[in-house]
Formats: sequence, structure tokens, C-alpha cells
Amino acid sequence: MTLRDLLRPDLDDLEDYVPVKPYDVLAAELGVPVERLVKLDANENLYGPLPAVRAAAAAADLHIYPDPGQTRLRAAIADYVQVDPAQVVAGAGADDLIDIIIRLVDPPAVVVPTPAFGMYRFLAKVAGATPIEIRRRPNFDLDVVAIRHAVQETGARLVFLTHPNNPTGNPLQIAELEALLSLDAIVVVDEAYIEFGGRTVVPLIRHHPNLVVLRTFSKWAALAGLRVGYSVSSPELAAEMMRIKQPYNVNVAAEAAALAALEHRAEIAKTIAAIVAERERMTRLVAGLGWLEPLPSVANFVLFAVHGRPAREIAASLRQRGILVRYYDRPDLAGHLRISAGRPADTDALVTALQELS
Ligand SMILES: Cc1ncc(COP(=O)(O)O)c(C=O)c1O
Repeated sequence: MTLRDLLRPDLDDLEDYVPVKPYDVLAAELGVPVERLVKLDANENLYGPLPAVRAAAAAADLHIYPDPGQTRLRAAIADYVQVDPAQVVAGAGADDLIDIIIRLVDPPAVVVPTPAFGMYRFLAKVAGATPIEIRRRPNFDLDVVAIRHAVQETGARLVFLTHPNNPTGNPLQIAELEALLSLDAIVVVDEAYIEFGGRTVVPLIRHHPNLVVLRTFSKWAALAGLRVGYSVSSPELAAEMMRIKQPYNVNVAAEAAALAALEHRAEIAKTIAAIVAERERMTRLVAGLGWLEPLPSVANFVLFAVHGRPAREIAASLRQRGILVRYYDRPDLAGHLRISAGRPADTDALVTALQELS
């Protein structure tokens, strides 16, 4: 018997989730100093956390286990989202909540409208569920009829929607969501980017106990490296999620930073506004080159259709100049690049490089 014989055979065809590489690794690969990298490939918040948030993380009692009941954090998040603390579950990033929900529902199949954030497919497969991918319409709105059909045909009890969607940046239409909430399925609405635009669907939870909203501190609060996210749902569903999560899933530094970010949210709102303004300026300048066509976005990134030349080559040429954007090697996004909104200097470097490639 080989080692392989002891392992699950159904994972043999699992495609690796392609994560973006850390700053220092990339800088070393490209031979440029870290401070010269223009990192517009992972929708991170390049302003970084507030000093008060950094200080809170640094001051955490690292020798003490975190609170498994997440009492303070759930209360602070509930105050921010305007729900009851019993409706909130925190995790090691929104990714952790995606995993918890899939394991709680344990469905044979999971329905994902594509193009989509890759984690839904990856974590479904790891959990032994079949991802059923339903192509969005040409304008990237949902194909509600096809999604309903897929849920009914496959017995999928779980649907992942993203609002605004990554990588397309468009918001979810409330009528589309309502048409799906009547299904016998848990409907997850991932609002990882909601602080940058779009109206939250949290108020719908009151009438729809099968709706779960996911959020994260990774984007608006610039805490992607610390891993804190949360879900908002009916108290019943939240209680079940609390039962199966790893007891210490949010570490003490992450908890302290998240609490500080919520406390200082009025100040962080200024950088959110700066990023939204930069999204608009970047879109205008890049579109002005005449060969990159933006899709309207309410997130902190923009998907561009590249006309007249291969998107892969543009991404590679930018990379040589230390500018990182996201290229997708897959048919439904062929000819597209996703570019995060950064600081004004990041946009300037991007536009100068694209002018050179024009
Ligand atoms: C739609 C979406 N959901 C969730 C995440 C991950 O969030 P977290 O960092 O909280 O795990 C991302 C990150 O890119 C995302 O794009």
C-alpha cells in the first residue's frame, strides 16, 4: 500500500487555488525593491491599517487563548451592522465562514454563478461537494432561471452569490436575490466589498432565515494579513455555525485589531472614500487609453476588457515593471484584466506603464 492509497481519491483532480504571492516573495522574484512594487492584483487596501489598529494588535495578550464565544467581537460587529450579537459569527477571514457553512450544510452540490471568487469552488471540492458553475449573462447579471434549475436538479442546498461580485465589480440586483431566496437552499451573499459600494442585503435576513451575509475586515479595514471576517444570519443558523467552528478560529491579535478598526471606523471611512475616488480616476485614465474597456464597478477594483492585444501579455509586461494586476487564464475571462484601486501614486505608475505599452 502506498501513502496515496491512504488518502481521498476524489481530491486527485482538485485544481490548486491560485493565491497571490506575498510582497517580499514577489519583489525578490522580480528583482525590484519591495517599496517599488505596485500591488494591484489582490484587492488589498494599500493604505494599510491605522496606527491605532496596529497598536491594538501589538498589545494583545498573546499567551492567552482567544474567547471561543467571541463575546466582545460579536457585540461590536453587531453594533456596526445593526443586528443582534446572536446573529454574528466571526472567523479567520470570510474564507473560514465559507468553509464552516459548506461543512454545516454538507450538500451534494454547491451552485456558484461564474465568474466568481475561486474559494467557493475550492472549498466545496475539499468538502466533497460538487461545484455547479452557472455562467452569468453577458452583462454579468445572474441567470436566475438557470440557477434555480441547477438547485432543483442537483439537490444543491447551498448557493454562493457575491455583492458586489469579484471579479466583475457589479452589484447584485435585489429582485434576483429574492427570486433565489424562495428556493429550498441556504443562500450566501458575500459582501466582502460592500464598504466600497452597493447596498447591503442584511435587512432581508429578518424575513429569510436561509440568507447568510458574509463580510470581512480584509478590505475596508486593511487587515487581510490578520484574517478576520464574519457572517450575519438568523440567530438559529448562527448558533449552529458557532457549534461547529474551531473554538479558537479568531486569534487574539486579529480580535484586538478588528475591535480597534470598528472603534475608529469614522477615520477609516476617509481612506475608503479615497479608494473609491481613486477607482473612478483610475477607470477614467485607463479607459482614456482607448484599448481597455472598464466594466462599471462599485467595488475596490475594476475589470477591464483588453482590446486588440492579449491580456496575458499586458499583465506580463506590467509585471516586468513591478506593477501587478490580475490576469485569469480561463475562458470566461479571456481578454480581461482586473485592477485594484490603490493610492494616487499607484494609479500614476500604472497609467504611465500602460501608456508605454500603448
Ligand atoms: C468575494 C470575496 N470573498 C471573500 C474574500 C476573502 O475574504 P477574507 O480575506 O476575509 O478571507 C475575498 C478576497 O479576495 C473575496 O474577493
